[in-house]
Amino acid sequence: MGIRSLEKLQKQYAREVRQERRGPGGGPRRGAHGGGKPKNTAKTVKRMLSYVGEYKLHLVAVLFCMLLSTLTSLIGAYMLSPVINRIQLTVDPDADIKWSAVGKAVDGIIEKFASLPFIDALISKGTYHAVAVYVLAAIIILLTVYLVGVLSSYLQARLMLVVSQGATEKIRNDLFDKLQSLPIRFFDSNTTGEVMSRFINDVDNIDVMLNNSLTSLVSGMVSLIGTFIFMVTTNIWLTLVTVVFIPLFIFGGGWLAKKSGKYYSGQQAALGAVNGYIEESVTGQKVVKVFNHEEVCVEEFELLNNDLRDKQLKAQFYGGIMGPVMGNISQIGYAVTVGVGGILMITSGLGSGDLTVFAGYSKQFSMPINMISQQMSTVFAALAGAERVFNIMDMEPEDAGRSEKGAESEIKGEVVFDDVSFGYLPDKTVLKHISLTAHPGQKIAFVGSTGAGKTTITNLLNRFYDINQGSITIDGIPLREYDREFLRKNIAMVLQDTHLFTGTVMENIRYGRLDATDEEVIAAAKTASAHSFIMRLDNGYNTVLEGDGSNLSQGQRQLINIARAALSKAPILVLDEATSSVDTRTERHIEHGMDRLMKNRTTFVIAHRLSTVRNSDAIMVLEQGEIIERGTHEELLELKGRYYELYTGKRELD
Ligand SMILES: Nc1ncnc2c1ncn2[C@@H]1O[C@H](COP(=O)(O)OP(=O)(O)OP(=O)(O)O)[C@@H](O)[C@H]1O
Ligand SMILES: [Mg+2]
Repeated sequence: MGIRSLEKLQKQYAREVRQERRGPGGGPRRGAHGGGKPKNTAKTVKRMLSYVGEYKLHLVAVLFCMLLSTLTSLIGAYMLSPVINRIQLTVDPDADIKWSAVGKAVDGIIEKFASLPFIDALISKGTYHAVAVYVLAAIIILLTVYLVGVLSSYLQARLMLVVSQGATEKIRNDLFDKLQSLPIRFFDSNTTGEVMSRFINDVDNIDVMLNNSLTSLVSGMVSLIGTFIFMVTTNIWLTLVTVVFIPLFIFGGGWLAKKSGKYYSGQQAALGAVNGYIEESVTGQKVVKVFNHEEVCVEEFELLNNDLRDKQLKAQFYGGIMGPVMGNISQIGYAVTVGVGGILMITSGLGSGDLTVFAGYSKQFSMPINMISQQMSTVFAALAGAERVFNIMDMEPEDAGRSEKGAESEIKGEVVFDDVSFGYLPDKTVLKHISLTAHPGQKIAFVGSTGAGKTTITNLLNRFYDINQGSITIDGIPLREYDREFLRKNIAMVLQDTHLFTGTVMENIRYGRLDATDEEVIAAAKTASAHSFIMRLDNGYNTVLEGDGSNLSQGQRQLINIARAALSKAPILVLDEATSSVDTRTERHIEHGMDRLMKNRTTFVIAHRLSTVRNSDAIMVLEQGEIIERGTHEELLELKGRYYELYTGKRELD
């Protein structure tokens, strides 16, 4: 049924899948499921953190809150020890309890608080009055401590939200900035969906990580260290028993982390491929329907989707089992600790309070390790995303040109191509030895068969692509010497494929020159013969165009594009099949309007309809990247060559 293979589809929709599938230097595949692990993790992490680094004050406050909430939870847990010891002593006054130093200190504090008269008054006198007051005092202190803990946790979460949202906003801005500076070559070789995927999925992953995982990681560390200190002060032997399990955690966690990290970049790339495919089939839905390709589309999508599922499954599996595996190790650790504690209670008089507290700590000790390992999947997804985002950020931007020829100079419009050769790909020359001169105010036309290289010439003129050989000069100065922005400001273009943005007709035309007044926009629309149809729209110039102007006809879209160029005061004008969808009568109207406009401008016209180029100062006939004939309409007809064929052929058709 003509289904492309997965490999082929991926090549098309996610270039990096292909790159990652090959080893370094394009060697053999690294694994059946492609997508190597993040390449330079340390650098990526550092760079990701640099975005957070701008919020230093926030971070200090977050860290403070974190310390506070960890401390409160540790102290809270510790308070159980003296309380249990006291109860035990009440029941059995002869019990030989060994108090730990901290236990003793906390006991002193509770005692002092309990001796305040208002607490004493809260409980009616009875046999266990003293211990009841003591417990009540402990509960009040505990509640206060936990309240501080809850408040600081809340504050920490709020502050971290500000940091993470700010950081991702900056990442999105930087990425978009970069996108605007990338050369056309990038957009030619990446699908829209793939690029969108970086903005949406990849940045989102970074966001989730900064928001959840980063705080979890840091607070996990803080609580790990804190718990350890409290454990040591409670009982050194039991601490040693707990610590024995740490290598197990590190080894097990490390192995799983390595395993799952490998699959996350593959997952993100596959997601990009799926998005690329969706985007393409949505924008090309008409073509899909015309050729009854719905089924093929679905099957191809299933292939990509399947691949995504496979990679997601693997990545999430290893990320997901981390929690349970760690949990089990910690349960074993807990059981052993409590067992040893029981023995110590019998043999060396470990207090029941201390054992209870220690058992709690032992659990608490593995909790951050658990938490950290559970966050690993998010961290890996974020790392893979960040790498893809930074890959774009690191791409070579479009050459800005030299700024020597900048805003203050004025261009007259003498354009000279001297022996220009060019190919989009290094091994395939598209234009061969093009030489031509256009004097200011002249109208130069390019005609020739489809794929001859006409659009390519205009792509070179405004430096969408740079030439491989020869030189192009404007007013005697090579293109590279111009500031790129200045250069483009001086060349108005009507591109072969029209594009309109979401916005009103007025705004869309004003795109040609942002400082134009409404009157100037309307005058430009009149020149382009667009005025009358615009006036017939529901809201005239204020009609909102949506979805690339899908509520207009193809010809009407072209007219708006011409109006845009007409509005610009650029001394050089390029019209690439500008009127190909416009009826001949309107075309003639535009021609008259444009003739006035083009009087002092150098104009390049590309047209298949030869009647539109007849009055040009020079017509270049292009064939397979070469100018095979040149001259005025009459000269070329006399020559009885390719132009004559084209022209007379067209005539016969007329
Ligand atoms: N972005 C690109 N990457 C690689 N090759 C390209 C690219 N754009 C065009 N080409 C190739 O360059 C050649 C010239 O294309 P160009 O668009 O200049 O033709 P054209 O004369 O404008 O044709 P048409 O009359 O159909 O508009 C074609 O053979 C095409 O395959
Ligand atoms: Mg073209």
